[in-house]
Amino acid sequence: MNNRPIGVFDSGLGGLTVLKEIMKITPNENIVYFGDTARVPYGPRSKETIIKYTFQAIDFLISKNVKAIVIACNTATARALKEANEKYDLPIIGVIEAGAKTAAYTTKNKIVGVIGTDGTIRSKAYNIEIAKIDPEIKIVDKACPLFVPIVEEGWANTDIASLTARRYLEELMDKGIDSLVLGCTHYPLLKRTIGEIVGENVKLVNPARETAKDLKRILENDNILREETEEDPKYEYYVSDIPEKFASIAEEFLKKEIDDIKSVKI
Ligand code: DGL
Repeated sequence: MNNRPIGVFDSGLGGLTVLKEIMKITPNENIVYFGDTARVPYGPRSKETIIKYTFQAIDFLISKNVKAIVIACNTATARALKEANEKYDLPIIGVIEAGAKTAAYTTKNKIVGVIGTDGTIRSKAYNIEIAKIDPEIKIVDKACPLFVPIVEEGWANTDIASLTARRYLEELMDKGIDSLVLGCTHYPLLKRTIGEIVGENVKLVNPARETAKDLKRILENDNILREETEEDPKYEYYVSDIPEKFASIAEEFLKKEIDDIKSVKI
C-alpha cells in the first residue's frame, strides 16, 4: 500500500481525457495533474525540446511526491517516454502502447487511421507499436495540427472545428479505414465533431481507457495502490499559465467542480 498521489501530465488540457478514465478505473487514488499551458502546443517542437519539457514536468510532479507518472500526452510519449524511463526510477507510462493495443483489437479490416500532432505522426510511434502486435495492419496516418489550438480555445463543438475536421479527415476516408486512433489526448474532446465527419462505420479509438488499465495493473503488481479508506481521494491541478480557461473547460469535461487550480513556474 502507498498513499502518495499519481502524477498525470500533458501539455495542456488534453490529459484530462486520460485523467477522467484514471478517476474511473482507480477511483481511490489521489492525483496531481500538471498541464503545461504556458508552452502548449508541443506538437510542432523538436524531440530535444519535448524531452526537456517532459523532464521538467516529471521533476515538478516528483516534487509533489508522486509514486507513479502517466504521460497523458501522445507527443511527449512518442518523443520522451523512453528517455524518461532511462532517467527516473519510479514507474512512468505513456499512452501510445495502450492506443496501439486498442486499435489492434478494434479493427476488423486491418486498415487503421491514426491522427495526431506533427511530432507524433513524424515519430511513427503508432506504426511501430501496432506492427509489434499485428504486422498485417495497414496504417494511414495524418497530422492534424489545428485541432489542439481549437480545443484549447474551447471551440471543440463549433463549425470551425467541423470545417477543420472535414478538411483533415476527408483524405483518410478514401483509404477504407474502419477505425481511427485519436492519437492526441486533446482529440477525444472533439469526438462528436470527428464522429460526425467519419460516420458510424469508423470506430474511434481512444487510448485513455487502456492507459488507465495499464496504470492499475502496475499499481497492483508493485503493491502501491492507496489503502481503502472512508476519505475521498484528493485531486490537485497545476498549470504553467493563467488557470481560468483551463478551469472552465476542465469543469465542463470532468463534470466536477474544480476550485483548486494553481499556477506554477517549472
Ligand atoms: N495532447 C497532446 C498529445 O497527446 C499534445 C498536444 C500538443 O501540445 O501539441 O499529443
